[in-house]
Amino acid sequence: MQNNNEVLLKVENLCQYFRSGTFVNKAVDNVSFEIKKGEVFGLVGESGCGKTTTGRSIIKLYNITGGNVYFKGIRIAAGIQSYKDAIEKAKADAKEKLASAKSDAEKKRINDECNAIVAENKAKLKEADYDQKHCDRAYSDRLVSNLKEKFLPLIEKASGDEKAKLTAEYKEALHKAKRTKLVTQIQMIFQDPIASLDPRMTVREIIAEGLIIQGERNKEIIDQKVFEMLELVGLVREHASRYPHEFSGGQRQRIGVARAIIMNPDLIIADEPVSALDVSIQAQVINLLNDLREKFGLTILFIAHDLSVVKYFSDRIGVMYYGKMVELASSDELFLNPLHPYTRSLLSAIPLPDPIYEKQRQRIVYNPLAAHDYSIDKPTFREVKPGHFVQCNEAEYQEYMKILK
Ligand SMILES: Nc1ncnc2c1ncn2[C@@H]1O[C@H](COP(=O)(O)OP(=O)(O)OP(=O)(O)O)[C@@H](O)[C@H]1O
Ligand SMILES: [Mg+2]
Repeated sequence: MQNNNEVLLKVENLCQYFRSGTFVNKAVDNVSFEIKKGEVFGLVGESGCGKTTTGRSIIKLYNITGGNVYFKGIRIAAGIQSYKDAIEKAKADAKEKLASAKSDAEKKRINDECNAIVAENKAKLKEADYDQKHCDRAYSDRLVSNLKEKFLPLIEKASGDEKAKLTAEYKEALHKAKRTKLVTQIQMIFQDPIASLDPRMTVREIIAEGLIIQGERNKEIIDQKVFEMLELVGLVREHASRYPHEFSGGQRQRIGVARAIIMNPDLIIADEPVSALDVSIQAQVINLLNDLREKFGLTILFIAHDLSVVKYFSDRIGVMYYGKMVELASSDELFLNPLHPYTRSLLSAIPLPDPIYEKQRQRIVYNPLAAHDYSIDKPTFREVKPGHFVQCNEAEYQEYMKILK
């Protein structure tokens, strides 16, 4: 459950386009959502709708095309390409207009307009580039100033041994704060437990890799942490010296969980962590994530392709279809009042252990061309009820409001 209202992750108009030649695949198109601290946010949608791409964009595996990603209030990713595109477009538009311009005054006006757009986007581009490159620095600066605020008055007041002890503690904390990288506080558990573990590394090496990159050199501390993590995820110490191929799918996924948790992250992106597993093992891994969430106050972005998996685990759910977020609501609200036809079709696919219901259950097939008429009035992401958003146009909005009444 949510602890408070602090927004940990904010994804704002995220676009991730893949270009191949002249074809542009809008894998993620203008997606916005927030995740509050301590919350589990479920992201669902069919294969290829852009869930993994959303996760990978958040951990900066891609340069995002457009929009912004904020973590702990600091912008960690910004869509630099969108500013470059805007500059090119302004120049092309101006060129076209200039060709048919009649007077010098008109030409001047067109040029001025173009220059203003170019200047504005250049400034935004520079700012975005700076934020993206310096987000770790901004975060460690913040930690350092928090430490100063906490320790300096105490050190000032203290004397003798107490003062020496506090000073040492302060120095140690400062050293750590300066090395802290913001983005390592987001860890991803990857979709494919086989492909995401290097077959030539032992489990110990896999789990400890992040710590070593972070600068931990002490072998004893590393071993102890690895053993602790193995036990935490339900494996045993003896597993540390083995290789990934010696494990079952569920065990490999546990190794992936251990590798993420050892970094002491604030946010875990779990990308279909159970979809490759047997149903009984799925429940085990979900229970494990649930335990860890309670133990460490983790915030989780949980990606899945069907709603039944996320239903009990998520506080809020976002439904994606072809790169767009089509509906977003609290878990209870989404199951009680599903509005978007795609959400309804996903819900109609969930079997229930009730033979009478199952006999009558009808699959709703979502056909976007038949379901919506967007020829004139285009859809936008609208709030139909506090916290419940649907992608719809005006006519659909009115209809949804009627249903909710
Ligand atoms: N690195 C890439 N280069 C080009 N296209 C990509 C890349 N990664 C993903 N895509 C495309 O982006 C779209 C979204 O893919 P993505 O992997 O995010 O889907 P998904 O929702 O995670 O699907 P699944 O449930 O199958 O994992 C797909 O059309 C895919 O082909
Ligand atoms: Mg995926």
